[in-house]
Amino acid sequence: MYVGVDYYPEHWPENMLEKDLDGIKELGANMIRIGEFAWHLMEPEEGKFDFSFFDKVIEEAEKRDLSVMFGTPTATFPAWLAAKHPSILSKDEVGHVRAFGGRRQYCFNSPEYNRYASKITEEVVKHFADEPAVVVWQIDNEFGHEGSDWCFCEHCHTGFHAFLKEKYKTVDELNQRWGTIFWGQTYNSFSEIPMPVPTVTTHNPSLKLDYTRFRSASVNQFAHKMTDITRQHAGKHQPITTNVSGGFFDKAFDHTENVRVMDFVSYDNYPVWGGLTEPIPPAGIAMTHDFNRGLKDQNYWIVEELMGAQGHNVIGYLPRPNQAKMWSYQAFAHGCTNMLYFRWRGMTKGAEQFCFGVVDQDNRYGRKFKEVQSLFSEIQPYEHVLNEKITSDIAVLYDYDNIWSWKSQVQSASFDFNAELLRLYAPFYRHNASIDVIPSDRDFEQYKVLLVPVMQIIDEELAAKLKQFAEAGGTIIFSFRAGLKDRDNNIHFEKTLPGPVAELAGIEIYETEALAAHQTVPVKSTDGQESSGRVWRDLVTAKGAEVLWQYSDEFYQDQAALTLNRTGKGNVYYLATGLDATVLEPLALDVIKNHGIWHTETPEGTEAVKRNGHLFLMNHTGSSQTVCGETLAPFGSKVVKCKEEE
Ligand code: GAL
Repeated sequence: MYVGVDYYPEHWPENMLEKDLDGIKELGANMIRIGEFAWHLMEPEEGKFDFSFFDKVIEEAEKRDLSVMFGTPTATFPAWLAAKHPSILSKDEVGHVRAFGGRRQYCFNSPEYNRYASKITEEVVKHFADEPAVVVWQIDNEFGHEGSDWCFCEHCHTGFHAFLKEKYKTVDELNQRWGTIFWGQTYNSFSEIPMPVPTVTTHNPSLKLDYTRFRSASVNQFAHKMTDITRQHAGKHQPITTNVSGGFFDKAFDHTENVRVMDFVSYDNYPVWGGLTEPIPPAGIAMTHDFNRGLKDQNYWIVEELMGAQGHNVIGYLPRPNQAKMWSYQAFAHGCTNMLYFRWRGMTKGAEQFCFGVVDQDNRYGRKFKEVQSLFSEIQPYEHVLNEKITSDIAVLYDYDNIWSWKSQVQSASFDFNAELLRLYAPFYRHNASIDVIPSDRDFEQYKVLLVPVMQIIDEELAAKLKQFAEAGGTIIFSFRAGLKDRDNNIHFEKTLPGPVAELAGIEIYETEALAAHQTVPVKSTDGQESSGRVWRDLVTAKGAEVLWQYSDEFYQDQAALTLNRTGKGNVYYLATGLDATVLEPLALDVIKNHGIWHTETPEGTEAVKRNGHLFLMNHTGSSQTVCGETLAPFGSKVVKCKEEE
């Protein structure tokens, strides 16, 4: 098992190298991750490649039995390249060139960038291919992060036209499928089609969705090209990965496709970052792990695990003593097998002066050092447990087309895809059940429960698979807007909502309402409880389904807010409005019990994950808690063997 740190020796005087590596060793590490931003150091002038700095670093690492993950450096290109070929710089939606100076400002479709990036990748991989200490290649760094997945330059415009031509073959077909007759937008040729840059009011929704698909194809063609080159030249002992960043549902590329050609997934785990006054809620962090595990349906690495506070210009919450360690335990519980902390030492210069590391600018091996040291020594005995595959009975289904369709028309000002996914995920997480987060085109018949949040694009194929799943005895929970649209981002004609799943859900919807931020609608259950819905409401008429909750405001008291349809051997729930945990946690518990799924009740803010005869226990609160009979200190975490009855 690899444990270690991200190390940037190029940030420091060369005479600090040996002492740093000794310190990293003292931490209990056996791996360093290096190189991913050091293109200029490797090619200071065009065509003059020099890897001597990293040769020395690796030689010293090797002496200490430290293995190396090496990053191909294409996320930050040298200034000479931008000066020579300004066309590599991407453009924002108003046509401003993104200046040299930040990072990731390249256009994925720039032929020049593709050429230079291919060359440096080839050179660096060839140079270290026979190096036994280099045991993994990381491609680029956090594809698409910080808005870099979007570009609106000339290369992208012509690339978009080619993408559309390939897809639709004739412009008439495109006109027909996009409905360009509306507002007289009919095109005579592909070259007339704009990118979705600012205009008066809004662009055609099909155009917006296709442009996002084009972004995805652009990012992924680049990622795959770099992976191919690496694969071609890498040593047999060097697998390939790339590091997925947070905010993956907000990005314009399909992550499953992105990592398809890699050997394993790596994730950068930052439960809190600049500007946040507190970490994202525990369920939200857990979901990010389950998503990464779902990308290749296998365990994954964390190659940037937060230890200190982070921020570029604005800093935020300081992880409390042992809190970052607890987040590491949580990651291991959810499928992380190898972990590197960001970063050995915070840098006193440059844009990330406030991204704190294991060691700070005073260069003392203090509290954080000891926290990481204890984690490394405590976790390694469980390597065999961490390497076991995780199987879950519950899966959340997502589809990037659907997410992008929502982004193209948010419909409710209070809509947020992440929040809607968590609305269904969190109640099951709260009972500590294991959940997979997977794309909807994966096989899912092995699950017992499917959570299908706000899936407004449902095609006939998915609808048929869902029907089969429910009839065979599975439980499905849909939430609002299900089945509204087709893959062209258009509304189904002559289909009563929820479209292709109306019969499956045993309901019909004739009218719907978007609810603004802070707007709520009252609901009551058939047994007299009261609650409220937010974000959206579908007004549901039961057609065979049982009504569990209904609206209680004027005009809509006969309309359902939550229904259950028993169909075949299974159950289909339809959540018509944004109901909260008070309604959904008991419902989740019923579903879990019905299917005999492992769960355990733990205090609010705590988490228990069962894996291979062990319980991983995490306390996300600042007070001590008893979890599964074990006392956990504030932000404490531990692994214990399961007792018989568990
Ligand atoms: C990550 C990134 C690192 C560093 C870190 C700071 O997103 O991969 O290079 O910027 O954030 O928190």
